[in-house]
Amino acid sequence: MKVVLLYFSTTGNTKHVTMLAKKALEGAGHSVALHDGFAMLKEYVALGETSVTPLTAKYQADVAEAEVIGIGAYVSFFTVPDGFMKILNERNSPSSIFGKMKYYFVYTTFGNEPGKALEFVATQLSLKNKNAKYLGGVFLQYPENAVPLQAPRGTYDAERPEEKKKEEEMHEIVTETIHPEDNKPTAMFGPMVVDPSKCIRCYSCVSHCAYNAMTKPEAGSAVKIPTWNADNCFGCCACFNFCPVRAIEIPGGNSSEREQYYFGRSTAGLKETPPLPRGQVYSRMTISVPH
Ligand SMILES: Cc1cc2nc3c(=O)[nH]c(=O)nc-3n(C[C@H](O)[C@H](O)[C@H](O)COP(=O)(O)O)c2cc1C
Ligand code: SF4
Ligand code: SF4
Repeated sequence: MKVVLLYFSTTGNTKHVTMLAKKALEGAGHSVALHDGFAMLKEYVALGETSVTPLTAKYQADVAEAEVIGIGAYVSFFTVPDGFMKILNERNSPSSIFGKMKYYFVYTTFGNEPGKALEFVATQLSLKNKNAKYLGGVFLQYPENAVPLQAPRGTYDAERPEEKKKEEEMHEIVTETIHPEDNKPTAMFGPMVVDPSKCIRCYSCVSHCAYNAMTKPEAGSAVKIPTWNADNCFGCCACFNFCPVRAIEIPGGNSSEREQYYFGRSTAGLKETPPLPRGQVYSRMTISVPH
């Protein structure tokens, strides 16, 4: 069976889920075409919002051949991000994402409170695709990635204006829901540095990186720690958050003074505190959509 997965992701969570879904589907013998929604949107805007863009044309061609379409988006302020809304509202544009859908499902990732995001996506798609059959949806709990590099709002140290500036810039980037290619937080934070004396070579950072920016050493290589690739890195901080021994530092993001999000307030509790499950299926979607 041919499957198309269209995802909208900024800090890598939804992309991570999409890649896992791709792997599982391919393992079951299906073929999967991945499409990056924000890249499509960016191209669409750049070309004046009037024509079928190359990425959309490819998407529409894949959709025409696919049996099932999966559409994934992250939750932003209890709904789906602006970019996704924009594409949703472009029902009649040449670059519509709708195409000739047959069957579709939806998925969202969220931090703590998904609101009605999933229901909204499912219902909108249903209303705009009268001939397509809705299969269902899931929302998955994924903690925010880049957040630990920001101090809790309002707790800046007045004597450290540089830190404050960095955090404000980060906040702006995240809240404007940019696409990774537009503006990489690493451009501000600097590199992700693996400390060889701390690294236990579990490669959790490799498996959690949705951008192929952390890679395992080649078999037989003298280097045993993962390699960080600046060109691929978006600076989402998933590697930092999921390192069980805190072997990754982000000097530009003052990570030594930040907490990994799942370890609460104190690094003293690091070893005793298990990480939150990532990508936990929070609930199945049971709403009925009009058809
Ligand atoms: C600007 C912004 C707003 C967010 N709003 C919510 C929200 O209202 N509810 C929620 O549960 N999570 C919220 N989150 C968390 C994200 O939905 C969650 O971390 C998601 O997995 C991010 O997906 P991505 O890495 O694919 O971008 C928000 C994140 C950002 C950056
Ligand atoms: S997650 Fe941490 S300990 Fe594991 S390989 Fe990566 S840097 Fe090393
Ligand atoms: S290397 Fe780390 S910060 Fe960079 S994209 Fe991968 S997980 Fe995110």
